[in-house]
Amino acid sequence: MGVTLGIDIGTSGTKTLAIDERGGVVASASVEYPCAHPLPGWSEQDPELWWNATIDTVRAVLKAGTFKPADVKGIGLSGQMHGSVFLDASGKVIRPALLWNDQRTAAECEEIERLAGGREELVRMTANPALTGFTAPKILWLRNHEPASFERLKQVLLPKDYIRYRLTGTYATEVSDASGTLLLDVARRRWSGELLQKLDLDASLLPACYESPEVSAQVSEIGGAATGLLRGTPVVGGGGDQPAGAVGNGIVRAGVVSATMGTSGVVFAHAEEPGFDPLGRLQRGCHAVPGAWHVMGVVLAAGGSLQWYRNRFGEHEVEEARQRNVDPYFLLTELAEQAEPGSEGLFFLPYLTGERTPHFDPHAKGGWIGLTVRHGRTHLIRSILEGAAYAMRDSLELIREMGVSIHEIRLSGGGARNALWKRIQADIYGQDVATVNSSEGPAFGVALLAQVGVGAFSTVPEACDATISTVERTPTNAELKPFYDKSYMIYRQLYQSLKSSFQAIDQL
Ligand code: XUL
Repeated sequence: MGVTLGIDIGTSGTKTLAIDERGGVVASASVEYPCAHPLPGWSEQDPELWWNATIDTVRAVLKAGTFKPADVKGIGLSGQMHGSVFLDASGKVIRPALLWNDQRTAAECEEIERLAGGREELVRMTANPALTGFTAPKILWLRNHEPASFERLKQVLLPKDYIRYRLTGTYATEVSDASGTLLLDVARRRWSGELLQKLDLDASLLPACYESPEVSAQVSEIGGAATGLLRGTPVVGGGGDQPAGAVGNGIVRAGVVSATMGTSGVVFAHAEEPGFDPLGRLQRGCHAVPGAWHVMGVVLAAGGSLQWYRNRFGEHEVEEARQRNVDPYFLLTELAEQAEPGSEGLFFLPYLTGERTPHFDPHAKGGWIGLTVRHGRTHLIRSILEGAAYAMRDSLELIREMGVSIHEIRLSGGGARNALWKRIQADIYGQDVATVNSSEGPAFGVALLAQVGVGAFSTVPEACDATISTVERTPTNAELKPFYDKSYMIYRQLYQSLKSSFQAIDQL
């Protein structure tokens, strides 16, 4: 049997799976790890956690016994986007990686816009404005705040590309993840020499850049010894977790959009052209489909808000779930089910780590607004599910405003595995939502890219058509539409009313 592996380096854990040529998942394993927040607004991980999780999950998948290492025809890598892995001349990690939801670089974003000659110029060069989570401001932060580390800096890699380096010994990336560095000329699909020069950054800091299904490297002797994979196994470019997840969801043509609730929440649309919005209201990048692009809106803490609630206030459910051998999220949403739509006037703002789309505001804060003595845990939890969906609707509205007609919204991530959250999304988006046969997300998407890379399919859309189909639809409740439309307008207003208070809180 010939299989390909997909390895996804997520924020809360790493998942590895193997698929056969028909897209059937034949083995899968995952390992969780923590994220460090050493100061407010900071978010870091030690890349060694990802490498150890890669070793453990690849070994577990090989041990499942459904195939042999020699059956692995290719490997695809996916991972949390924008993270900065800083390496010295010997390939050693200099400091913990700054992650996509780290907010420390507001000053560096301003510096980049200034050096680039203004926001419009920056958008012309890279298709995006400077956002705190992106990689380029992190490199400038290192230069400004840890100059001794910057002196040692020889290579900057994205999270999944660090795993490629450990597996193969090769420094390489691909266009979809590179789009989130703010250093890629997205329209031309190559590094922006122009911006690198303006920022006074050496081009040698960046790895070679491939298309997502292209073979970029082979498993090395050392990588093979650590994981049990055969030396020489090809590794394709892969994709940032969002473009890769979009491939896994079949978002490879215009009009079909995905709404993914992982730690972040992402609305993702395929685009035939790179596009240009001088205001840079949505993120633009190369798709993992050669010759195509994407637009996306990113909510920084969507599933992350529910995870925060589980970790801080859900001890009881976590314990009960352990005893009953069920998922704690299942118990939490069972509680949420008892509250009415709208959570009796309670709104949750999911800005726990600031917010990206549509506010671009590192100072934004989370909160419950509308609390009364009648509210209890059921309302608190339901309002989190609703707040995350309102925040996703912000991005959907921006995509609709661009004139993109959305025929179908495909859900994925935690928000697609839960019946209540699916209903809430259908009602708040005001449109039916669908799920597809694969719920494996980015790991599945890059395993498919690897199938293309090793020649099992000739194009990415062909691979998607052969393996992905819609399996379920959750209809929107037309009766609730006026209510949720009105509630959404209140939700939108809340950020505007609180914006200056969020800034003032940070100046305390
Ligand atoms: C996308 C983004 C997040 C991360 C984490 O722009 O920042 O979705 O990729 O998964």
